Amino acid sequence: MSIEQPRGSHDLQQSESGEVEHPERFENPGLPPHRPRLGDEDPKANKRSEHQVVVLFVISIIATIAAIWGFFAFPVDGLQVGNVRMSTLVIGLGLGLGMLGIGVGAVHWAKTLMNDHEKVEERHPQRGDDATRAEAVDIMREGVEDSAIARRPLIKGALGTAVAIAPLSFLVPLIGNLGGDWDISKFRHTAWASAPGGGRRYLATDPTDRRIKASEVTRGSMVHVQPWRLEEEENFLEEKTKAVVILMRLDPKLLKEPEEKKDWSYDGIVAYSKVCTHVGCPVALYEQQTHHVLCPCHQSTFDITDQAKVIFGPAKRPLPQLPIAVDEEGYLYAQSDFHEPVGPSFWERER
Ligand code: FES
Repeated sequence: MSIEQPRGSHDLQQSESGEVEHPERFENPGLPPHRPRLGDEDPKANKRSEHQVVVLFVISIIATIAAIWGFFAFPVDGLQVGNVRMSTLVIGLGLGLGMLGIGVGAVHWAKTLMNDHEKVEERHPQRGDDATRAEAVDIMREGVEDSAIARRPLIKGALGTAVAIAPLSFLVPLIGNLGGDWDISKFRHTAWASAPGGGRRYLATDPTDRRIKASEVTRGSMVHVQPWRLEEEENFLEEKTKAVVILMRLDPKLLKEPEEKKDWSYDGIVAYSKVCTHVGCPVALYEQQTHHVLCPCHQSTFDITDQAKVIFGPAKRPLPQLPIAVDEEGYLYAQSDFHEPVGPSFWERER
């Protein structure tokens, strides 16, 4: 009698007595012959491997210390470009090498110094019986003994130090920044308020810092703007992050301007803060057909024809408008600072 075999069970056959037989279809290839490593036979090579492991852990230790040093050596409070670059480089490299040193050291240790005898573990139900569990504990204990950590105090010390201090490379910057500058009144003023020496604060292209003439701003385009010559001032990056502006030219007839803001634009040219009022991403996508500006982070959409009001997305208030005017030579300048804080609505809470 034959039975229909389900898919995947083609190895099963039924004998005349009704018992299912499991014919052997594959030879167990077994394990390849064990090949001793260099260090298994040569004590010098073994010692060399031990030194290499220690060196890797020491690299980790030095990298962690370098990351902590970088945090203090290159403070980014003033957002000076050089310090920001160096801080990012040193802390990033320190963190990376700190972790890499421990990882590579541990792998090298396991591959060259620990017992490399192959072991076969038969498949069994997930929870073993008590005897199996006790055996597992024995295996782990054996593993600890195999690692010879007790007999290798140098590795033990280096690994212990590397693991112990590795978290410091991100804990120290974290704790150091907890006491940061939370003075939110800084967001009420930007570099547009005044120019050094009291002159006009001209609009300039970002990042080339070239003054912009009204005649250069064509309909349908969007110009990224920063205060002219801001780079020569202190805290340039911090000030720039607050003062960045987008400039667009529309048909003046399309602009819905309230009476008190009629002179904030020039011949259809309007300037708005580039800092999204949701959580501060730079709004940078301009749909010239609809005159909508989009924030790429969470898709808040602002209507430039209607005072940059929010028409979609999580932002809760319009982009602040920068009042602009044109001088005798046709260059655009800011009449004043923004009339409200730039950035996330959070800053309005004090009002
Ligand atoms: S930051 Fe702009 S939508 Fe969230």
